[in-house]
Amino acid sequence: MTTLKLTGGAAATTKGDALLIGMHNGYPGSATALTLTPGAAKVDKAAFKGKLLATLKSLGATGKEGEVIKLASLGATSAPLIAVASAGRLTGPEQLRRAIGAGIRALAGSKNVVVELNAVKDEPFFRAAFEGALLGAYQFTAYKKAAADAPTTITFVVDDPKSKVAAAALKRAVAVAEGVSLVRDLVNTSPAHLHPQELADAARAVAAQGKLDVEVLDEKALKRGGYGGILGVGQGSTHPPRLIRLAYTHPKAKKTVVLVGKGITFDSGGISIKPAAGMEWMKSDMGGAAAVIATLQVVAALKPAVNVIGYAPTAENMPSGSAIRPSDVLVTYAGKTVEVLNTDAEGRLILVDGIARGLEDKPDVLIDVATLTGAQLVALGSRTAGVMGNDDALRTGICTAAERAGEQVWPMPLPVELRPSLDSSVADIANIGDRYGGMLTAGLFLKDWVPDDIRWAHIDIAGPAFNQGEAWSYTPKGGTGFAVRTFVQLIEDVAAGEV
Ligand code: BES
Ligand code: MN
Ligand code: ZN
Repeated sequence: MTTLKLTGGAAATTKGDALLIGMHNGYPGSATALTLTPGAAKVDKAAFKGKLLATLKSLGATGKEGEVIKLASLGATSAPLIAVASAGRLTGPEQLRRAIGAGIRALAGSKNVVVELNAVKDEPFFRAAFEGALLGAYQFTAYKKAAADAPTTITFVVDDPKSKVAAAALKRAVAVAEGVSLVRDLVNTSPAHLHPQELADAARAVAAQGKLDVEVLDEKALKRGGYGGILGVGQGSTHPPRLIRLAYTHPKAKKTVVLVGKGITFDSGGISIKPAAGMEWMKSDMGGAAAVIATLQVVAALKPAVNVIGYAPTAENMPSGSAIRPSDVLVTYAGKTVEVLNTDAEGRLILVDGIARGLEDKPDVLIDVATLTGAQLVALGSRTAGVMGNDDALRTGICTAAERAGEQVWPMPLPVELRPSLDSSVADIANIGDRYGGMLTAGLFLKDWVPDDIRWAHIDIAGPAFNQGEAWSYTPKGGTGFAVRTFVQLIEDVAAGEV
């Protein structure tokens, strides 16, 4: 990963291959107008006699989010190349995170990048700047070299390079970015190279590095334990399923958070097979599991005073002579029976085994995260996750944590009137219900496994886990690493007694 450094002094005279400065479109409440950040204005004064703003305008700058203008400094600054990244309306830290991410992405090919960060004082802005830089520098190079390499070092010019606030934000940002990058790598890896067993190996590596407890149930152990949901989904594949458990405990913990992530390493739909068009997207169907594993990695590094236990039920959903069929009945870990009416509604089948097992850890908070439904994309689009649950304060707490972390998560209901659509004539419940509100019926299915006195939430990340479009701000094409930042924030909020 790219190394981050802090330095004092003037950005204009700091040595590097490129200098990144900022512009924006005005502050909330002010008129929309192209504006240099205070630090960029300093660079302008020192190196360009105040002509930079007019130059940018003549180059077509408007200040809208995502805009990056590059210009040669022709010796006026120590760095030969200047990039001016735009934050749009400066409404908060996320705008800074996005601008720096876009700027760093545009500077691929420059080895040492200097980022002007004078006038930043508050922790959320430091954090956003450092995260934006690291996440924008991410590249997936397992199978092909990048067109232009990411910077090896990014040096931030700050008012006080000895600032404790900046140092703490930097440490946290590095841990978080490493976690997000791990998820991106796992999602981007070809499903031919990431079966349940390899996902379990990745979790073992995280456990070894972070001194976490790890337990992996293989297919024999799953059979002995009665994990009928995980086994049923996995039985069509030549690569057998697993249940991964990672545990972080803190001696002063007052609360236990259990996370459960959907780990379908490839979702073909099974016998209810998906159409060919877009099926490659389904390599991202383990994005929830990867987010849980990575969250435990970050937690191991940051050591908050709370217990965190992560489960990743993982299987490959394939059609074959041994695959589950529509009309098969599965006996899940909790003993509850499910009539499988569509083998493509597989995520919920493995999740309820993970949830039921997670209940044994007596969680104060239980959250599952899953690329669960196409209906999530219909309802909220590709960038906003939906959160449902049985506890309004927890649901709000997750939305608040997401907002602080810079992820888009929106509250959704679990309307009781949709529940009868999941009734089965032969089993306790069917795995599909009303198609309208499909994200909500999936949530209602999961809810059946959770006792009312357990605070539970479900986050559907079908869209946000994977970027099918072009790279934007700090989000590359492919795996995004969604949910790690929200989880880390939420865990800190639980530790602080705020949720
Ligand atoms: N993994 C998919 C959901 C998905 C769709 C994730 C698009 C990312 C992008 C899930 O297993 C699935 O197939 N869901 C079905 C459920 C249906 C059969 C009730 C769906 O949403 O169509
Ligand atoms: Mn499916
Ligand atoms: Zn799926």
